[in-house]
Amino acid sequence: MPNESTPARYYLTTPIYYVNARPHLGHAYSTIVCDAIARRKRALGIDTWFLTGTDEHGQKIERSAQQAGRTPMEFATAISAEFRGLWDRLGLTYDDYIRTTEERHIHGVQKLFSTLRDRGFIYKGSYTGQYCVSDEAYVDGPPGTYCPDCGRLTETVSEENYFFKLSAFERKLLEFYEANPGFMGPDSTRREVISFVRGGLKDLSVSRTSFSWGIPVPDDEKHVIYVWLDALANYITALGYGSDDPADQARFAKFWPADMHLIGKEISRFHCVYWPAFLMAAGIQVPRSVKANGWLLFDQGKMSKSRGNIVRAETVQEVLGADALRYFLLREIPFGQDGNFSFDALVQRFNGDLANGYGNLVSRVVNMVHKYFGGVVPEVGDVTPAEAKLRESATKSIADFAPAFDDLNFSEALKGLWLLVAEVDGYLTANAPWKKPPERSDEEHIKHQARVLATAAEAIRIITALVYPILPESAAKVWKQLGQGDIGDAAKNAFLTRVTWGELKAGIILGEPAPLFPRAEKDAVERMQNLEEKNVSSAVDAVSGNTSASDATSTPQAPQSALGVSPVPESATAPASATASPSVVSVQGQLAGTVPHSNAVHAQLGGQLTDHTAAPVDSDTPVATVHVHQVPAELASSRISPTPTAAPTGTPLQPAEPAAEQPQHITIDDFTKVELRVAQILVAERIPKADKLLRLEVDLGYEKRQILAGIAQHYDPEKLIGRKIVIVANLAPRKMRGLESNGMLLAASLQDGAPVLASFLEEVPLGARLK
Ligand code: MSP
Repeated sequence: MPNESTPARYYLTTPIYYVNARPHLGHAYSTIVCDAIARRKRALGIDTWFLTGTDEHGQKIERSAQQAGRTPMEFATAISAEFRGLWDRLGLTYDDYIRTTEERHIHGVQKLFSTLRDRGFIYKGSYTGQYCVSDEAYVDGPPGTYCPDCGRLTETVSEENYFFKLSAFERKLLEFYEANPGFMGPDSTRREVISFVRGGLKDLSVSRTSFSWGIPVPDDEKHVIYVWLDALANYITALGYGSDDPADQARFAKFWPADMHLIGKEISRFHCVYWPAFLMAAGIQVPRSVKANGWLLFDQGKMSKSRGNIVRAETVQEVLGADALRYFLLREIPFGQDGNFSFDALVQRFNGDLANGYGNLVSRVVNMVHKYFGGVVPEVGDVTPAEAKLRESATKSIADFAPAFDDLNFSEALKGLWLLVAEVDGYLTANAPWKKPPERSDEEHIKHQARVLATAAEAIRIITALVYPILPESAAKVWKQLGQGDIGDAAKNAFLTRVTWGELKAGIILGEPAPLFPRAEKDAVERMQNLEEKNVSSAVDAVSGNTSASDATSTPQAPQSALGVSPVPESATAPASATASPSVVSVQGQLAGTVPHSNAVHAQLGGQLTDHTAAPVDSDTPVATVHVHQVPAELASSRISPTPTAAPTGTPLQPAEPAAEQPQHITIDDFTKVELRVAQILVAERIPKADKLLRLEVDLGYEKRQILAGIAQHYDPEKLIGRKIVIVANLAPRKMRGLESNGMLLAASLQDGAPVLASFLEEVPLGARLK
């Protein structure tokens, strides 16, 4: 039972996930961390409430739905179900799942808004400035400013808004941070937030009028409430804030304030500045802590839909199991820091720590107790210094594990515990209960075996109890094998409050030995890569309406969105890096190679044909290559040949020739990886000191972008404005002359290298995809 200094209840939350994209490992990371914490708290007898859910309103979701040809509600419902389904398949033990489109939430948000307005913290004004739709955030700066968080071009918004008096909270927040040093973490987050607030707080626009997918402002329904005010409120509305039902009110009174909001580091400003200010203004207690995890990186970049470098949790679960994923994420990445995910590292950890480490230890000991003692735990008998030492180490592990885990230092906690795994392994090897030296009598040998195996089994019991929140499925199996019954029941009885040496009593009957972590074979990495590749194709097919999509996603581990679409082809975009990694190949040469004559259509950037490798980033005459991410090596060699050698920059390039010998074909899957869309040029201007480049702002209907194009010597910028063109929409962003380019224009390339922009004779809607 919790002692007096331990709170009797614990409320923790994940961020609520945007429903513009299907879940990936980056999302699973925060949710898994929360699940591990929730499991430990419950097993310590603490009344725990673990909340997760989805963030479903706002311009970004409205546009994603529009792009998929669905209503926002249909769209949100389908993606939200994917998140929830994944959490269920991974066995995550959330207590409540909130959707911001639920009535209970809408009601609570309107109550919060009215309270803020009634208390004089909201006033009406008008906002003209920049807005980042991707982050749903207001950004300071003139038109053309990039979002400092995600790097995308902001849009100019000019509309009547309600404002929240954030400026009134500058001092209060600083005083609050000072008085509560443990409120935010890690230190880097704390420093950033404090310096942001010290820099001065401006009032914050908390309503929008230029779109309608949101919660209406009470009594002024042409406004919808700003999506971050809406989303942050989930932490209280899910508990029952604003409800008249006594049960809801009791839950709110019991669990609020939250003990911890676990968030990704990029959303700390919203959680550490806006959220406490809203709560202070409404007269509601602020949360006890906000802790930020770092980013999961894959191929050097933050794993994210827009970079196209995602890995799905289902893939790892299918090949190695959910526990392997949990262990890897918590062991490999020091919490708070960014960490690399790679299939190789995952398999190495799996084999090293789980299969050969803990799993092998359990199997050796349980099998020997069965073999030598008929599966009954023997009497330990008289102990020697070796057992005393092991006991001391186990006791130290128990003492060290708790503070490390509770400080979110999971990696250290596991590292320490695995020292104990290694020590028990070494103890077994040194004392070799399977070997009887000739000088030892039979009776002495049985005593020796009993002492060693009972001691090792007890150490395993302790390791298993401690590791349960991180490896719940495997710990449950070991618990049974150790004759301890159902670990879930043990957790309900607060078994973690009583982890002490000596509880594995003689006479306990062990369960049947069963494999825990079958060693991952050589093909494990390949299998995971293939699953991801299959998912990429299915996402692309789904968007492109290819009828084979349902076949590709028929596996239960790789569910197709209930909408039958993936909102955006998640992995069809290129990595941010211009350098090709082994899993990145160029399809450009092959696309060109399928066009048999000169004047082929080429994606063009910087006045060069693009069937050559990428020029250095920041050059103003770059040669671009379409990169397709995540194509396994064997596919690369069979379907797509390697990137051709670079031509010297500036060399007049010849249009693509038909392939000399056998024509090389690409599959429809290869083609659909390149997302070609109709866009309209809104702004076109020259860039100082770059005579070949034009800066364009283009409208895709669902989003506006900046593209730098090497057509300045062939097109007058003024004549381009209003023109509809074709762009490669899923090309990784690149920087040139300090400006970011998000896409590439399509142009025919004439013999002299002059580009002719691709265009249409008929009217075409913005954003329409070319298939
Ligand atoms: N909807 C907002 C949060 C509102 S909370 C009131 C949001 N959603 S999100 O879907 O974009 O991100 C949700 C969380 O997932 C964030 O904490 C974000 O950091 C996390 N992650 C998304 N990709 C990630 C990685 N690659 N690595 C680690 N976490 C990542 O922001």
